[in-house]
Amino acid sequence: MNRAIRELKSYPMDRLNRAKEEIKRKGLKLFDFGTGDPKEPTPSFIREALIRAVPEVSQYPTVKGRKELREAAAGWVKRRFGVELNPEAEVIPTAGSKEAIFHLPLVFIEAESDKRKVVFGTPAYPVYLRGTLFAGGEPHPVELKFEENFLLRLDKLPRSLLEETRIVWINYPHNPTGASAPLSYFEEVYGICREHGIILCSDECYVDIYFTEPPPSVLQVGKEGVLAFHSLSKRSGMTGYRSGFVAGDGKLVQEYLKYRSSFGVASQDFVQAAATAAWSDDGHVEERRRIFKEKAKVFSEFFKEIGLEFLPAEATFYLWVKTPKGVSGEKYALHLLKYGIVVSPGEFFGRGGEGFFRIALVPTLSECKEAVEVWRRAHAEFERVRR
Ligand SMILES: Cc1ncc(COP(=O)(O)O)c(C=O)c1O
Repeated sequence: MNRAIRELKSYPMDRLNRAKEEIKRKGLKLFDFGTGDPKEPTPSFIREALIRAVPEVSQYPTVKGRKELREAAAGWVKRRFGVELNPEAEVIPTAGSKEAIFHLPLVFIEAESDKRKVVFGTPAYPVYLRGTLFAGGEPHPVELKFEENFLLRLDKLPRSLLEETRIVWINYPHNPTGASAPLSYFEEVYGICREHGIILCSDECYVDIYFTEPPPSVLQVGKEGVLAFHSLSKRSGMTGYRSGFVAGDGKLVQEYLKYRSSFGVASQDFVQAAATAAWSDDGHVEERRRIFKEKAKVFSEFFKEIGLEFLPAEATFYLWVKTPKGVSGEKYALHLLKYGIVVSPGEFFGRGGEGFFRIALVPTLSECKEAVEVWRRAHAEFERVRR
């Protein structure tokens, strides 16, 4: 078996999904705040674009993707961040950002090299670690701190480590904590990566889900040595379509493109047609932001009421909450599960996640309100038994 597979535990969400199946079998109503897969419908104009594009004869799509889609993605980057991208050379469509994140080190890591470290923050989305291991890279997770707003501080790492680093992953707005980073942070990280010849990969799949100021993109500080990963999953309610794009340094983009044909990840032409429609429109995203903001308000008020501390997120649809003192995320999550409420224990997201849990604001607003009522009882019972 592959060494990487032997070292890995099962994908954390798989374990949660099994526990959920058990609850469903018992016939209990499930309030699922586990996986980041919102229930709001995909806007109808996007669904219609897909249906219209289903051909009579279906042939292989190309990994380079359709010109209209690359232009639509570049158009969104220009509207949203004021950055010009060359759709011929600096953008590749992907089958969602997960596969693009996972596959990247397979192309850019040389397993025998002294420069094969991959640095990322922890707690984190698990795919930075997984992609690194499968590619024979050396993961270097850096623990993120509540007091530092969960920013990955490259300036605190030893120069010798940075010299051995090939890739840095940053992810703001951040999963699982909901933390955001200002443009000055991107500037600082970009400078350090340039100084040490590191590929800076910025996972920006939540950049359009914000409640106050629109978060920046790494593309605003420069393209050299930079790749930004974007997705329609969260922005446009299209998790099931599997569609995103990678953009940035033309040389890196072209190198990545050359090898992506090996992976079988070319996006279906009809999905690309739907994606073109989605990147060309911003109105539907505004509506989604409004809904997530309302849900975040419901839970922020509730957590304040029951005395649980959380990071007041300005973006994403996650809330990162401290468990009652001295209690592990897993213990609190298992208690809530008895009431049909699913949350993700912080430990699922790696070191630094202990003593937290994450809620993904994916049920509808009315389900969120209903869940709060159930949760209030569950929490009171938890505290009663603890005392
Ligand atoms: C931080 C982060 N990056 C990437 C992804 C992958 O998203 P997708 O493959 O749906 O584009 C997710 C999904 O939850 C995520 O949380």
